[in-house]
Amino acid sequence: MKKRSYRGLGFYAMLVFVVILVWLMLDARQDAAHSYSMKSLETALENESVVFIEIEQNREIPTGTLSIRLSGNEMRELYVSDVNEIQELLAKYQFKNYYVSDVPPESWILNLLPLLIVLAAMFILFVIMTNQAAAGGGVGTAIAYPVAKKLHDDGCHVDLIVGFRSKDLIILKEEFEAASTNLIIGTDDGSYGKKALVTDLLKEQIEAGVKYDRVIAIGPVIMMKFVCLLTKEYNIPTVVSMNPIMIDGTGMCGGCRLTVGGETKFACVDGPEFDGHLVDFDESMARGAMYRDFELHAREETCNLFKQEVK
Ligand code: FES
Repeated sequence: MKKRSYRGLGFYAMLVFVVILVWLMLDARQDAAHSYSMKSLETALENESVVFIEIEQNREIPTGTLSIRLSGNEMRELYVSDVNEIQELLAKYQFKNYYVSDVPPESWILNLLPLLIVLAAMFILFVIMTNQAAAGGGVGTAIAYPVAKKLHDDGCHVDLIVGFRSKDLIILKEEFEAASTNLIIGTDDGSYGKKALVTDLLKEQIEAGVKYDRVIAIGPVIMMKFVCLLTKEYNIPTVVSMNPIMIDGTGMCGGCRLTVGGETKFACVDGPEFDGHLVDFDESMARGAMYRDFELHAREETCNLFKQEVK
């Protein structure tokens, strides 16, 4: 099992804040070192303490930067909004020891590049060190697999917690192992792994001190409901993948209607992934059971296994 990160969002927010603060301080220091006003320059010209001035300007814009060498080999910089004004000032004091060089226009992107690189690196670090748990039950584990794989391939620490009724029904074990940092399998009858429900296995991890940044639950609605009740207690953002009856799949028939955060949503067009803490699971379960008698009847009528005795 790989070592897990126990750092939370707060840590990364603080890190970003510190980097921005340091960058602003360095920038302010640089500005302070550069600060030399027109008044100071005029005084220096009056005192004849200016030795040489290099004016850097892009010919297409009036602004420019002056590098001023003072007696005693001191250097000063001065940003000016209009280089013509400076040339008039130099003419006034008959100062001829200056040189104007044409420079390419400044790009704000280039100026911000170091900060952007640091922030991008921190974002990548954040994604890499994010702890995710994917919980799946029964056939829902097959849907949890690509989700876990993508997160794992992207460098996240993924605890994949899957539950089956018994050892014989375990699927995709090798694939799960390859797609997770830590694979935890439980069975209802204890024939493989722990005899525990997915929610119990997840709770064990949380109580052992694992800090999950997100839980993704996919499987029976009842399992997702109890995973969400658990993660709500620990304030862990949780995504669920809802699987109501779907008919047209276009948001027109209303078959897959759900209530999420008090609003009507359609799993086929608005989901099927939703914030698990907002889903009305009881309503979803009631709607899912609405056609149970019809489904049973249809199965008995059409399934040949019910009609023939196997000899
Ligand atoms: S399947 Fe008909 S509205 Fe979603």
